[in-house]
Amino acid sequence: MDKIVILDFGGQYCHLISRRVRDFGVYSEVLPSNAKKDLLKSPDVKGLIFSGGAASVYDASSPSCSKEIFGYGVPILGICYGHQLIAHLNGGKVIPGESGEYGITELRILKRSILLNGLKNTEKVWMNHKDVVKELPGNYSITASTNNSRIAGFENEKMKIYGVQFHPEVTHTENGNKVLENFVFGICGAKKEWSNSAIIKNIADEIRREIGNKKAIIGLSGGVDSSTAAILANNIIGRNLTAVYVDTGMMRYKETESVERIFSKFNLNLKIIRAQDRFFEALKGITEPEEKRKAIGRLFADIFDEAAREAGAEILVQGTIYSDRIESGVTPHSSKIKSHHNVGGLPDKMRLRVYEPLRELYKDEVRRISKELVMPDEIIDRHVFPGPGLAVRIIGEVTPEKAEIVRKASFIIEEELKKTNLYSKVWMAFAVLLPIRSVGIQGDERSYKHPIVVRIVESKDAMTANFAKIPYEILEKISTRITNEISSINRVVYDISNKPPSTMEWE
Ligand code: XMP
Repeated sequence: MDKIVILDFGGQYCHLISRRVRDFGVYSEVLPSNAKKDLLKSPDVKGLIFSGGAASVYDASSPSCSKEIFGYGVPILGICYGHQLIAHLNGGKVIPGESGEYGITELRILKRSILLNGLKNTEKVWMNHKDVVKELPGNYSITASTNNSRIAGFENEKMKIYGVQFHPEVTHTENGNKVLENFVFGICGAKKEWSNSAIIKNIADEIRREIGNKKAIIGLSGGVDSSTAAILANNIIGRNLTAVYVDTGMMRYKETESVERIFSKFNLNLKIIRAQDRFFEALKGITEPEEKRKAIGRLFADIFDEAAREAGAEILVQGTIYSDRIESGVTPHSSKIKSHHNVGGLPDKMRLRVYEPLRELYKDEVRRISKELVMPDEIIDRHVFPGPGLAVRIIGEVTPEKAEIVRKASFIIEEELKKTNLYSKVWMAFAVLLPIRSVGIQGDERSYKHPIVVRIVESKDAMTANFAKIPYEILEKISTRITNEISSINRVVYDISNKPPSTMEWE
């Protein structure tokens, strides 16, 4: 499949560039700036995009790449830092600008370059830089300028090397997509081969190669990633796949039933392990958050290990997606077991080969193909849920009774948000049970009971989050229902903390 490689020079928008290219229907991937030659000079690589970055090209420690790249004959587009780096490595000059350019800036097109095809004579573009290209290498010409950057765009048409100081990948650049399209199609001639059906077919072919006739196991959490990976593998290897769902007792309201119901339609070899008692036993007396996580992780791994042995599995299929790999540094896909953040780490003793069929996909691509696989919305749109489940939402010792309280309260919160169409607009919405008690008055009598914290957050990437500004009437409805329907609660508070400094979860 044709692809465009984004070389990462530390730009915060690297993955945004890759997303844009994929949205055009062309496969793209982000590689480190020192990626090996065979990954860059290969017939399927139709173009390279050098990302932006925060460094200065003239600093000794700044990220760079081999000059050889310019001789590969692959078209190159440099963006911001990438633009400066191309000039720098080819004998041009980059210096600190007199004043930086930050935000929306007017760009004047000076030369009708293929890259700038279809743009007006002046364009609004988004800038974020201090350094500027002062002098171009020989055989390069200026294509665009701004008031502060004489060389805001350049090209070496013969070698198909282009640079833009502005960021075409951000939406503030009005015709940014046009510039990227010009590069991807007009200059690189890439073919649109990245469609839902192509993704599914590619993965299916790969599953045949990677798993073949061997037996595999997958941990199903009820989330969209593991569910999609399971269905894709199931479509190819059928009964040789065992999907294991462990009910830890810390699951959401009726989650186990819904997993059972949903997957019965997919003819999946699903093994539901009801291990609530074992988990509550393992958590007895533990109050320290990390200890809780470890105890859950250990037990989960033991149970999974038992299930893998029973199934005779050699391969562990995981629903790891692109963003999970970004968090842990891009790793080769068939290496040793990656400590799965979702289950607290599976032990090496399992000796299973890990295979991650969704490793190249972004979340919304997973959602798209899961729709194509006719998975129900309740899985596709479900909020994320931490591996240790409700245990990290019960402050202090975990007991079955407390798990029941948080489960019920969280269900009420989710139900009220669904009724008001807010569920899909927020990242997560849940209850936390505090071990303290406070005085209340219920049915004319004094009560002395626990409070529930309502936590509703908005986030794009889980790295930062804001508490959701939910209308008071909805919060009031949630509060009233929780105290009415859960007799051991007499107070409800709303968590108004952002991340940072708080985290989304309480533990
Ligand atoms: P925090 O609390 O770190 O959470 O702000 C960010 C996101 O990660 C989820 N989370 C987890 N997910 N295993 C997971 O799979 C975990 O151990 C875990 N801890 C937190 C959290 O629910 C939120 O969406």
